[in-house]
Amino acid sequence: MNQLKANVGKADHSYKIYIGEEILDHVGMTLAKDGRAKRHVIVTDTRIDALHGERVQAALEKMDLRVERITVPPGEEAKGIETVLTVTERLTALGADRQTILIALGGGVIGDLTGFAASIYLRGIPVIQIPTTLLAQVDSSIGGKTGVDTAAGKNLLGTFKQPKTVFIDIAFLRTLPDEIFRSGLAEVIKCGVIKSPGLLDDLERAAASGGLREAAFLERIIATACRIKKEIVELDEQDHGLRRILNFGHTVGHAVEASSGYALSHGESVAIGMVAAARLSARLCGLPADDAARIAALIRSVGLPDRIPAEMDIEDVLSRLSLDKKKEGGTIHFVMIRKLGTPFVNEGIPEEILRDTLKGLKA
Ligand SMILES: NC(=O)c1ccc[n+]([C@@H]2O[C@H](COP(=O)([O-])OP(=O)(O)OC[C@H]3O[C@@H](n4cnc5c(N)ncnc54)[C@H](O)[C@@H]3O)[C@@H](O)[C@H]2O)c1
Ligand SMILES: [Zn+2]
Repeated sequence: MNQLKANVGKADHSYKIYIGEEILDHVGMTLAKDGRAKRHVIVTDTRIDALHGERVQAALEKMDLRVERITVPPGEEAKGIETVLTVTERLTALGADRQTILIALGGGVIGDLTGFAASIYLRGIPVIQIPTTLLAQVDSSIGGKTGVDTAAGKNLLGTFKQPKTVFIDIAFLRTLPDEIFRSGLAEVIKCGVIKSPGLLDDLERAAASGGLREAAFLERIIATACRIKKEIVELDEQDHGLRRILNFGHTVGHAVEASSGYALSHGESVAIGMVAAARLSARLCGLPADDAARIAALIRSVGLPDRIPAEMDIEDVLSRLSLDKKKEGGTIHFVMIRKLGTPFVNEGIPEEILRDTLKGLKA
């Protein structure tokens, strides 16, 4: 089992990230040893609950912990303030007090919702993250951002709430559908591009040999991606500067995602966005063209798109980029790379170059 220690926020906010296969007994033992909580409430969605809920609860109960489960509907549609209120009402009905710990068992949606609920219930109770999607294991469970969507957009309400502990059990990934798995791979590729060319080598080898879902490989890439995310968040918890480099591929990614009416998944959109950012980096910042082509080839080889769908309107994508610009107070923050592993934030890309690059990416 891999173990990382994250030091985020105040000195007393350091927490451990455990990564391994079949580690539920370890989860139970760690929580029992801590001993401070009177009860643990698992928050999960109905799909994950059907696959794993009872097993997780049983592993904790084996250690004589008092455990209850709350379920909410699956999917991004449930990621609203109403669901947070449903969770907090259920907590009140259960009699949950400040000696209660919430356990977020699920993907990014459950992690974000549960973290949010934990940060407001009784002015804040602890939350533990047990991520079950690849995206949640390498990205959303670490770093303490919580959030829900509103009619005006995604993640517009939220808090910073660092988890008490993160337990990453790669055994959960066995039941994850391929499409959702691939979406998480986009964030792993992102980590490789911004901080670890070695991770890209590893991904290329696994894609070539058909070993992308092998346990040893997964444990290794998840540990690497978590270390990268953790180190960046440690230096910039509240997203004032450095943390922005985690947005590599996300500027165009978010625009493409919205322009597709969310028909493209987040990972697919970020994949396209990374190819755009790599091409812009080659054009404007001296990234060797071979490296830009390598990123696109890796994206294709794991089954993610490296082209903007033929039916998508480039002008619509561009207008969404300028909407983003208003939100950020006038400039589009574009994460670029000078070479693999060396990102920086560029704030002024001429619209004509953007348009031209996006046109060149059309399928
Ligand atoms: N907080 C952050 O820093 C951060 C970072 C990135 C993304 N996010 C958020 O994460 C969300 C996306 O997360 P996601 O991609 O994990 O999607 P998700 O949470 O919607 O999960 C995708 C689907 O997979 C199912 N599922 C989860 N685990 C499973 C398993 N082990 N086996 C079978 N099915 C399983 C879920 O029921 C769901 O239907 C978005 O809302 C995004 O805003 C947050
Ligand atoms: Zn992302």
